[in-house]
Amino acid sequence: MLREVVSEASTPKPFNEENINETFLHPQYRIDLRRYSDKEYNKFVHLNTVSDWSLLTWKGIGKPFEVQKYSKERTDWELEHARQMDPQTSWTYFNKAFHEWFIKDIPAEKTHGKKQFIKSLRSFHTKEIKHALGDLIQLQLWNYIHRIQDGIWDPRGKRALFEGLHLKKPRILFLGAAEGYEAMQLGAMYPGSEIIMVDYDEYCKNTRFADFPEDYPFLGENPKTGQGKVIYKDDLNIEYIVDDIRNLDFGKEFDIVLSVGLLEHFPDKYKHEVADWHRRFLKEGGYAILTTPRNQLRSRLYYHVMADVMNHTYRELMTVEQMGLYMYEAGFNILRHGYIKVHNGLICQPR
Ligand SMILES: C[S@@+](CC[C@H](N)C(=O)[O-])C[C@H]1O[C@@H](n2cnc3c(N)ncnc32)[C@H](O)[C@@H]1O
Repeated sequence: MLREVVSEASTPKPFNEENINETFLHPQYRIDLRRYSDKEYNKFVHLNTVSDWSLLTWKGIGKPFEVQKYSKERTDWELEHARQMDPQTSWTYFNKAFHEWFIKDIPAEKTHGKKQFIKSLRSFHTKEIKHALGDLIQLQLWNYIHRIQDGIWDPRGKRALFEGLHLKKPRILFLGAAEGYEAMQLGAMYPGSEIIMVDYDEYCKNTRFADFPEDYPFLGENPKTGQGKVIYKDDLNIEYIVDDIRNLDFGKEFDIVLSVGLLEHFPDKYKHEVADWHRRFLKEGGYAILTTPRNQLRSRLYYHVMADVMNHTYRELMTVEQMGLYMYEAGFNILRHGYIKVHNGLICQPR
């Protein structure tokens, strides 16, 4: 069932358990309270293409695809400063550029974009026409990937990945949390969770997370009945730390250490260190959960067309086998592996 939601009509908590199994189109994103089907669940959980990770070799599976096209902001900055942009600066540019897309009223922007394109045609200036067309293509792609397909947040895929961990009131550490979406989804699924988000870009805490819509519903669980429950950001117990992951001094105190889109931003010589971040704070029996973007044709196209929004920092696209082998070689057992819409996913534990 699909209904359009207009932001003016929103109340602080507009959805409840009666909306479970429904989906709505908001001008900025999709709301999806549908449970995943058996087919979707099986696609993810039972993908399990690898039965013995020790038999996999880099020669056999190849290395990830490195995205070469960088944003104009990065190339301009490097020209001006006559040096490579450092990772932390690159993240500040990325987070700002990415967030600006999440808050667009897409139908309104598309109408405006079409008008601008027609106006540019009348100008007969090739540069203007190309610019207006480029803007329109980006908008169409963003509408399709984020709003129609819901590929970025992908709540059904994430729920399929995160389900069944048999954890009670887990402590969750989210490394490189950005707006914090996935930890909130986990928190909704595992009632009583305590969530700690960490990101060294303060814009993530103060804007991306702070402005994450209060009225966005996560499908979680009611601990009293075991039935579905609709959970909002302010129902969750969240602390947000602005710091470098390398400065954290937690002990082994988390049931889940999570990262979404982190590993692929580090060239091979740093991957062990990133894997280690996921091990260092895990309790005995805890789970490291990671996702990274898939190396598929449409992802390559997305990062090409959206380069100015997405590509401020080093980025690889990889297969789930490559992602799993990095973690296996870094001393993890892979308990679950598969892919969701645009990301690969792993659940693993230190050996
Ligand atoms: C690609 S983003 C995560 C993707 C995210 N889901 C999004 O929507 O942007 C990675 C995040 O990790 C943060 N990050 C990278 N290295 C970090 C470090 N050493 N310490 C803390 N945060 C870090 C960046 O600031 C960025 O917000």
